[in-house]
Amino acid sequence: MAKILITSALPYVNGVKHLGNLIGSLLPADVHARFRRQAGDDVLFICATDEHGTPAELGAIEAGQDVRAYCDAQHAVQADIYRRFGLSFDHFGRTSSPHNHALTQHFYRRLDAAGLIEEHTSRQVFSPADRRFLPDRYVLGTCPHCGDASARGDQCDQCGTLLDPPDLIDPRSALSGDRALEIRDSRHLFLRQSQLVEKIGAWINRRTGWPPFVVSTARSWLNAELRDRCITRDLAWGITVPRDNFEGKVFYVWFDAPIGYIAATQEWAAAAPGRDWRDWWWQADEVSYIQFLGKDNIPFHTVSFPATLLGSGEPWTTADVIKGFHWLTYEGGKFSTSRKRGIFTDAALEELPADLWRWWLIANAPESADTDFSVARFAADVNKDLADIFGNLANRIISFAHLVYDGCIPDGGVPGDAERQLAHDLEQRVATLHRHHTALEFRTAAATTRAIWDDANAYLQHTAPWTAIKSDPDRAAVVTRTGLNLVALCAALAWSIVPNLAARVLSALGRDDVIPRWPNGPLLPQLNTGAGTPVARLGPLVEKITPEKADHLTRRFGA
Ligand code: 2FM
Ligand code: ZN
Repeated sequence: MAKILITSALPYVNGVKHLGNLIGSLLPADVHARFRRQAGDDVLFICATDEHGTPAELGAIEAGQDVRAYCDAQHAVQADIYRRFGLSFDHFGRTSSPHNHALTQHFYRRLDAAGLIEEHTSRQVFSPADRRFLPDRYVLGTCPHCGDASARGDQCDQCGTLLDPPDLIDPRSALSGDRALEIRDSRHLFLRQSQLVEKIGAWINRRTGWPPFVVSTARSWLNAELRDRCITRDLAWGITVPRDNFEGKVFYVWFDAPIGYIAATQEWAAAAPGRDWRDWWWQADEVSYIQFLGKDNIPFHTVSFPATLLGSGEPWTTADVIKGFHWLTYEGGKFSTSRKRGIFTDAALEELPADLWRWWLIANAPESADTDFSVARFAADVNKDLADIFGNLANRIISFAHLVYDGCIPDGGVPGDAERQLAHDLEQRVATLHRHHTALEFRTAAATTRAIWDDANAYLQHTAPWTAIKSDPDRAAVVTRTGLNLVALCAALAWSIVPNLAARVLSALGRDDVIPRWPNGPLLPQLNTGAGTPVARLGPLVEKITPEKADHLTRRFGA
């Protein structure tokens, strides 16, 4: 039994996430966690909301709420959506937890003691009316390049120019509108990443199994002369800095967020007796740690977070595999949270069951390049794969068992050549599927799952129990028994991707294990068991997406 630690990138607390965020880390992490549990591994799957920094502060201001109350509410909203999507976290924590505060300060102290923290003074915009320093994006003004009046201190969205706050014409505070802004000196802490280049480089070189684009992104960051990184901010909301003259400052959100993986494990451990976070994070050489994340997060996970962990000089677990994803686009353009473009996770669940989204997203995961979501392709794929192939397979044989065998798995006959061939072919397919899941190849895992459903349909098509029953009842019984066990096998193998659909099929066949086990050993006997077991009627497994429904989705979410 292997110990597998799985983390998904921590979604920012502000706002409901879209399907691109879901497939960019959360969903593949869940599929892998489920697969590993099925295979009998000891799995810990951790996630949390990322609650500090300007995104949370700005979200709260927009909502007219106190930041803490805002984060409480938004965390609950996201937790509920992920539960309904079937994301099987062992713990869904929060980076604002007391554990993360304490642990972040611990890391800072270790890094400071190791001589890896330096103080520098930098020039920052101060608003007398707001009585605070303003982060770049809290300063608004007129763009010096295109004249747009709503440019931010970090960038003009109109013409795309990167800016510094002093570049803006007629600058004002985004919080109060204050125009009497000043430039003042502010003291900040820098993590001396430049001292750690060799250590991090050697650490990356020892890793295997990373997607090539993750390795190349990591190396290019490391080779482009790794700069020391400012790890503090002039903000009120966040983790305070335990150092003289740093009152009123907090750690940068990207310093404390990944530490949140460990802190959320501490929350998990504190929630029940007999759990120890150290089994996963401290001198835990036997743990395999896999991180799931979108491509914009790669530098933080391949360089910055390792700098924190390795720089501490303590025996922390570091990632073995970093599985990065490209972007999912929506109907040829970007998903956009600010412009509400694309399909958001709450709205997706209002429209259709979670497993339809899960199936399509995993079957089309942006693993080696960006992938485009289109309503037309989604509807066509889901109708074919889930309704025509998987749903019909299950319904056809279960209905036949009701028609002829009183709704039970029939007794009689012995398996013949067709069953031996089927078992042999399936053993190869199951081994292939296991390999793809283990290698984190999600698209091919879904394709192989579908190929197994196709094999099952072909077997029933070929052996045709509905014809055999007229001339050879023993043969019809063997085929029906094999067919029903085959459907159970198909469902168990699909469970990590479509857990609800799979559980419905398995339950109809009298198998109610919470985690259907991964099939081991020869399949011939496993396909020939269960005579006498009652089988429940299933009804349509998946309702097809009609052209009218597809039109509705396009109208609702925009083309
Ligand atoms: O990009 C994001 O959505 C970040 N909130 C991811 C943080 S991952 C981890 F390091 F916390
Ligand atoms: Zn501009």
